[in-house]
Amino acid sequence: MKIIAINGSPRKNWNTATLLKKSLKGAASKGAETELINLYDLKYNGCISCFACKRKNGEHGKCAIKDDLTPILEKLKTADAVIFGSPIYYMNITAGMTALLERFLFSNSIYSDEIPTVYPKTIPAGFIYTMNATEEQINQFGVKQSFTLRENMIARTTGKPLESLYSYNTYQFSDYDKYESSKFSEEEKAKHKADEFPVDCQKAFDMGVSIATNV
Ligand SMILES: Cc1cc2nc3c(=O)[nH]c(=O)nc-3n(C[C@H](O)[C@H](O)[C@H](O)COP(=O)(O)O)c2cc1C
Repeated sequence: MKIIAINGSPRKNWNTATLLKKSLKGAASKGAETELINLYDLKYNGCISCFACKRKNGEHGKCAIKDDLTPILEKLKTADAVIFGSPIYYMNITAGMTALLERFLFSNSIYSDEIPTVYPKTIPAGFIYTMNATEEQINQFGVKQSFTLRENMIARTTGKPLESLYSYNTYQFSDYDKYESSKFSEEEKAKHKADEFPVDCQKAFDMGVSIATNV
């Protein structure tokens, strides 16, 4: 059983990566072989609308662009489960994660009511989001609706409803004194990091266990 996690943060050891690593630990505890892919190590673009993946008699399920994402899209075809992770940038997932999803989802769908997806497997998947905003702010802005919509689109390809995890009020810098951040209380951020982030880490671990169990 191979489970991959995809880090949509440019930072390899911060909030998103930490939670993804915990989720993979959970998956490994159920016997999974795991791999973490850092998207920002790779050079690639989003979908260029060439429609090669939709050509009649063409190679459906394959993105024609050749770049660093090509082997990742191939891995996504053979993985037994996938866990996506992204920080929230301007109330959205990052550009790197958006570009990956454009290529992954579009190449695995054709405009046919009879064949909703050409993705070869049905796999469990999860999405981990990290953000500076508090839970109250996120609910107030109503961003979860659009995230759920995207998860449903992913599920149309992967075949199962996604598990999701929101990690709020993240600690953003190694040293708040070094950055203009007067709108935040470092003390309150540090307290949240000490009290709540470990809870999120446990939830991420549990997500990995659950996803591995559902393979
Ligand atoms: C360009 C940029 C835009 C951001 N926009 C938001 C935002 O709209 N809402 C939010 O809650 N946090 C925002 N953040 C904060 C990050 O989402 C948050 O610090 C996240 O946990 C970072 O993930 P990382 O530690 O894995 O890199 C932004 C950060 C950056 C760098």
